[in-house]
Amino acid sequence: MFDTNPENYQGLRPVQLRVDGRALILLDQRALPADEVWLELSALEDIAVAIETLTVRGAPAIGCAAAIGLYVVSLGMPETRADFLVALWAASERLANTRPTAVNLFVALEQQRVAVTEQLDRDPDTSVARLREILRATAEQHVRADLRACLELGAHGAPKLPPGGILTHCNTGALATAGHGTALGVIRSAWASGTKLHVFVDETRPLLQGSRLTAWELVHDQIPCSLICDNMAGAMMARGEIQAAIVGADRITRNGDAANKIGTYTVAVLCKHHGIPFYVAAPVTTIDLSLATGAEIPIEERDADEVRVHGAALRAPANVPVRNPAFDVTPAELITGIITERGVFTPAELAGL
Ligand code: MRU
Repeated sequence: MFDTNPENYQGLRPVQLRVDGRALILLDQRALPADEVWLELSALEDIAVAIETLTVRGAPAIGCAAAIGLYVVSLGMPETRADFLVALWAASERLANTRPTAVNLFVALEQQRVAVTEQLDRDPDTSVARLREILRATAEQHVRADLRACLELGAHGAPKLPPGGILTHCNTGALATAGHGTALGVIRSAWASGTKLHVFVDETRPLLQGSRLTAWELVHDQIPCSLICDNMAGAMMARGEIQAAIVGADRITRNGDAANKIGTYTVAVLCKHHGIPFYVAAPVTTIDLSLATGAEIPIEERDADEVRVHGAALRAPANVPVRNPAFDVTPAELITGIITERGVFTPAELAGL
C-alpha cells in the first residue's frame, strides 16, 4: 500500500521555496526529458514568464508557484505598509494574468489575499515584516496541502484502476503538482499497491507533455508503459488493449464538467464508445463551485507557432492560420468518477461538496 503521509514522501518536488526563503526553485519543464535544469527565481516578471512559458505547468504546480512566488517577490517590496500593499496587489494581479484556465492559480492567490487582509482586519498596524511571514506560511501551507491531497487522492483512486491497459493524457504527475501527482499519482498508488497495469501515454500534441514529461516520470519509476501518438488511442481501445482512462483537470464546474488539456474530450468520447471507464483525478482546489457548467470556463488560446513548429523545424507553412486552444471541456455525462482527496464522486455529487 502507498504511504500517504507527506512527511515520508521521497519523490520529486518540482516547486520549492529555497532553504534561505529568498527564491522560488523550479525544475524547468521545458528542458525535460533531455536535461534536468533547476531554476532559482526571485523577480516578479521571471516568475510570471515561467508560468506563461510552461517552465512550471500543471494546475496544482502553477498554484504552488504563484503562492511561493508572491511571497518571494514581497521581499523586494517597500517597507512602508501602504506602499507594500499596493505593490503586493499589483504583483498578485500580474501572476493572475499568466494563465486563465487552471483555477488553482486563483485559489492560491486568493488564499494569500485573505491571509493578509484578515491579519490587517485584526491589527491594522501589522508590520510589513509580519505580513511577509504570513505570506510565507500561507504559501508553505498551500504546497503541503497539495502534496497531501495528491497522496490521499492516489489512495482513494487506486482501487478504481483495473489491471491491464490504462490510458492517460498530458502530464499529471509529480511535475504537475507539489509532488506525487493527480491522475499519474493514482496510477503510481495503484502500481505500488500491486495492480498489474500498463500505462498508455498519449504524447499530447502540440507541446508533448505526455511524451516529454509523463513518459519521463514513468520510466524513472519503472512503471510499465508505452508511448502512443494521440491519434492511436481509439485503435488501442478497439483492440481491447485499454481497460480504463484517467486524466487530470484544470477546472471542474458545479455540474461536473471538467476542463483539461486539449484532446481529453476526444479520449472521453472514445471511452464512451468502447464502454471504458473514464476517470478525472484532481484535488478539491481544482473544483470551482462558482461556475455552473464548463461553458463558463475561460479556455486559453496559445501561440500559433506551438502548432506550426515542432522542435526547431517548421511543420506547416509559416503563414497558415492556426487554432491552438490549450484545453477542452469534457461534459459530466462522459465522466465515470471524479477522484479527490475526499473520496470518489460522480459528477452529480460534486455540488454537495
Ligand atoms: O498546459 P498545461 O501543461 O499546464 O496543462 C496541464 C493539464 O492539462 C493537466 O492535465 C492538468 O493541469 C492537471 S495537472 C495535475
